[in-house]
Amino acid sequence: MAISPPRTSTLAQRGPKRETLLKAIQMFQRSILATAAVLAFTATTAHAGEVEVLHYWTSGGEAKSAAALKATLQGKGHTWKDFAVAGGGGDNAMTVLKSRVVSGNAPAAAQIKGPALQEWAAEGVLANIDDVAKAEKWDSLLPPVVANVMKYKGNYIAAPVNVHRVNWLWASNAAFKKAGAKVPTNWDEFFVAAEALKKAGIIPVAHGGQNWQDFTTFESVALGVGGADFYKKALVQLDQTALTGATMTKVLDTFKKVKTYTDKNAPGRDWNLATAMVIKGEAGMQLMGDWAKGEFVAAGKKPGTDFSCVAAPGTAKSFTFNVDSFAMFKLKNEDNVKAQKDLASAIMSNDFQEVFNLNKGSIPVRLNMNLAKFDDCAKLSSNDFVATAKNGGLVPSVAHGMAIGSATSGAIQDAVSQFWNDDKMSTKDAQAKIASAAKVK
Ligand code: BGC
Repeated sequence: MAISPPRTSTLAQRGPKRETLLKAIQMFQRSILATAAVLAFTATTAHAGEVEVLHYWTSGGEAKSAAALKATLQGKGHTWKDFAVAGGGGDNAMTVLKSRVVSGNAPAAAQIKGPALQEWAAEGVLANIDDVAKAEKWDSLLPPVVANVMKYKGNYIAAPVNVHRVNWLWASNAAFKKAGAKVPTNWDEFFVAAEALKKAGIIPVAHGGQNWQDFTTFESVALGVGGADFYKKALVQLDQTALTGATMTKVLDTFKKVKTYTDKNAPGRDWNLATAMVIKGEAGMQLMGDWAKGEFVAAGKKPGTDFSCVAAPGTAKSFTFNVDSFAMFKLKNEDNVKAQKDLASAIMSNDFQEVFNLNKGSIPVRLNMNLAKFDDCAKLSSNDFVATAKNGGLVPSVAHGMAIGSATSGAIQDAVSQFWNDDKMSTKDAQAKIASAAKVK
C-alpha cells in the first residue's frame, strides 16, 4: 500500500483556513505513525515463537555462554524458555530429558552430543533441520567428522556449537612458583611436580570426586600412558586384548597414583569448585577439559600470566575432542518450529560462534573462522585439532559421550569410579571389571 502525504504547498496559505489545514495534517501524520507502529509490531511478532532449551551450563563461564545463546535467539524476536539442569557432564540433564520426552513433553532443543544423538534420532523424536543446513551450506562449514555426527540417515538433526579439548592440564602459576616446580609434560614429571607442590603445602591435584570427573581423569591418563592407538583400541573399539593387556594395567596404576595427590574433600565436589582451587592457588593442577578455561576467564585470569594450559601429560600430540551440540525435537506449533530453526541457524553463525566460544573456553566448530580475539590456549587447541586430524592423534572423548553408546560408556564409567573410590580394589579386579563393562550393550 502506498501512502502519499497531502500536498504541502497549502502550508503557505494565510488566514483561518491555515489552522484547520495544519490540524488535518497533524492528524494525518499521527495516523501514519500509528499504522507504521502496527505494521512493525506485526512484522516482529507474526513469527515469534518460544524455544525451550535444555542445557547444563550453570557454572560461571558456562552461564555466560548460555546467556550469549539466549541473547542471540531473543535478537531474532523469539522467547527463550530456560531449562537448566545443574550437574557437570550432563548426567542429571539426560535423566530429566528422558522423563520429559517419555511423558510427551520434549523441549524444543536439548544439549545432546555424540552417538547419543543417533540414539535419540532412532526413537523418532528429533526434527529434520536439513532445510536450514542446506540453505546455509553446513556441509562446507563443518569438519566432516563433526557433520556426520550431527546427521541421522543423511539429515541434520542437531547443530554444533564448539569443539572442546578434554586432554588439558591447568596449572596455577603462583602455586608452581611457590613450589619451585616445573609444569609437567609427561607422567614422571607430573609426579615430581605433585611432590614439590605437596611439600610447599599446596594441594597438588584439584579433583571433584564425581563419576564423570573420575572418568575424565582416567581418559587423559589412558591417552598419555598408552598413546592414541592404544586409546582407540581400548576405549573406542573396545578391543578386549587392549582392555585386558599390560598397557591398561599401567594406565590403572598411574590413574590410582594421581588420586594420592588429591585432597580428602574431593568426593562429590563440583568441577568448577575444583577449578576455583587452582584459580586461587590453593591447588596446583587440574586435569579437565577446556570448559575450565571459561572459569579462569570469568574470574578475570589471564593464560600465561596467572595460569598455564598445557596438554595433559604425554598427550601433546593427541586431542580428545568433545563437541557440544543441540538436538532439535519435533514440535507442533509452527511459530515454535520457526523459532527452533532460527536457533539452529544462529548457532552456526560467525558472530555467535565467536562470542560463545570466547566465554566457553572451547574453539569454534565452524571452519575458517578468524581467531584474532582468542587467547593462546584456544590457538594451541585450534592448531592441534588440525594437526592431529592429519596424524591420527584426534580421538573422541569417551568420558564426554563422543566415542561409544551411552549404555556401554555408563558401565565403564561406573567401573572406573568404583576403582578410584575403593582403595581395597586391586588393579587386576578393576581391569577385569572395566573389560566386562565394555561388553555392555
Ligand atoms: C560438556 C561441557 C560442559 C562440561 C561440564 C562437558 O561434557 O561438553 O559443555 O561445560 O561437561 O559440565
